[in-house]
Amino acid sequence: MHPTHTMQLTDEQDFLQNEVRSVGQAVEQVMASFLPFDDQEDQPLYDAMAYACLTGGKRLRPFLLSSVAKLYNVPSGHSFHAGAALEFLHCSSLIHDDLPCMDNAEMRRGQPSCHIQFPEAIALLAGDALISLAFEVLVHPNTHPSAEKRCLLVEMLTRVAGTRGIMQGQTKDILGGNHTDSLEKLTAVHNLKTGSMIEFACEAGAVLGGASDKEVKLFRSFGTKIGLIYQITDDLLDTVGQQDQLGKPVLQDQTLNKVNFVTYLGIEGVREYAKTLKEEALDLLKQLGCNSALLPQLIDLIRSRQH
Ligand code: IPE
Ligand code: IPE
Ligand code: MG
Ligand code: MG
Ligand code: MG
Repeated sequence: MHPTHTMQLTDEQDFLQNEVRSVGQAVEQVMASFLPFDDQEDQPLYDAMAYACLTGGKRLRPFLLSSVAKLYNVPSGHSFHAGAALEFLHCSSLIHDDLPCMDNAEMRRGQPSCHIQFPEAIALLAGDALISLAFEVLVHPNTHPSAEKRCLLVEMLTRVAGTRGIMQGQTKDILGGNHTDSLEKLTAVHNLKTGSMIEFACEAGAVLGGASDKEVKLFRSFGTKIGLIYQITDDLLDTVGQQDQLGKPVLQDQTLNKVNFVTYLGIEGVREYAKTLKEEALDLLKQLGCNSALLPQLIDLIRSRQH
C-alpha cells in the first residue's frame, strides 16, 4: 500500500541491526582484552568466564549506553569500555540466574548453560569473578580520563550489582509468592533485577557525556521505562517464544511457578502495556529535547524482538 514507507522502515531496521552488531563487536573486543587468559596451564575458571561472555548475546545494554553517550559526542572508546563493564555484570547475572538453585535452566544463548558446560562450582565462581572484572574495567582510565567521573560510575554500578539492584531483585524473584502478589510488587522486582542495569546504561551514557543532573535523572527514568519493556517482553517470549530462536528454555516461569506479566495482563495486555511504556519513554525524550531517531527505533526493536 505504501511501498516507500515500508521500504524506509526496513532500511531503518537494517541500519539499526547493523549498528547494534558493530557496537557489539567493538564492546566484545574490549571484553576479550580484559578476560584473564593463561595458555600455560589448564584454567577452567578463565575458560568458564570467556564461555559465558564471548559466545552470543545481543549486547543491547552496551548499545543503549553508547547510543545515549553519542548524543553528547562521547568518544566511542569510552562508551565501549563502560559498556563492556556493564556486559560483564550482565553475563555474571545470567550464569547465576541459570544455576540449579535459581532458575535451573540448562540452555543459554543456544548452548549449554555455563554450569552444564563446566562444573557447577566453577560456573558460580566465574559469575562472581565477572562481577569484580566489571569494576576493574570501569575504573580503567580508558572509561573516562577523570578519576572523579569513574568513581561516580563505580558508585552507580555498586548500587546496580548489589542490594539496591540485581541481588535484591533476584532474591524477591526467587522467593516469589510472598513478594509478588500484585502487579505493583512484580514491577518492583522487574525494576530491580533487570531495570537497574538498563537504567545504568542510560544514566552512564549521560554521565560520560557531562550531562546536567536534571538530564541524568531524566535518562535514568528513561532507562526504567526501557528496562520494564525489556523484562515484560522477556515474560511474553517465555510464553509465546520459540526455544530454538530464544536459545533458552520456554515456559520457565510457569514451570517454576513464577508469576510474570503475562499472568496478570495476558498476552495482548502485555503488548499493549509495552506500547504505553514506549509512549512514556518518548515523552521523557521530549522533555530532554532529544530528537534522536535511533532511541525510538531501539525501543521498537526491544518490543518486537523474537529472542
Ligand atoms: C536476558 O537478557 C535476561 C533478561 C533480563 C531478560 P538478554 O535477553 O539481554 O540476554 P542476552 O545478553 O541477549 O543473551
Ligand atoms: C533474569 O530474568 C534477570 C537477571 C538475570 C538479572 P529471567 O530469569 O526472566 O531471565 P531469563 O528468562 O532466564 O533470560
Ligand atoms: Mg530468573
Ligand atoms: Mg532465568
Ligand atoms: Mg525470563
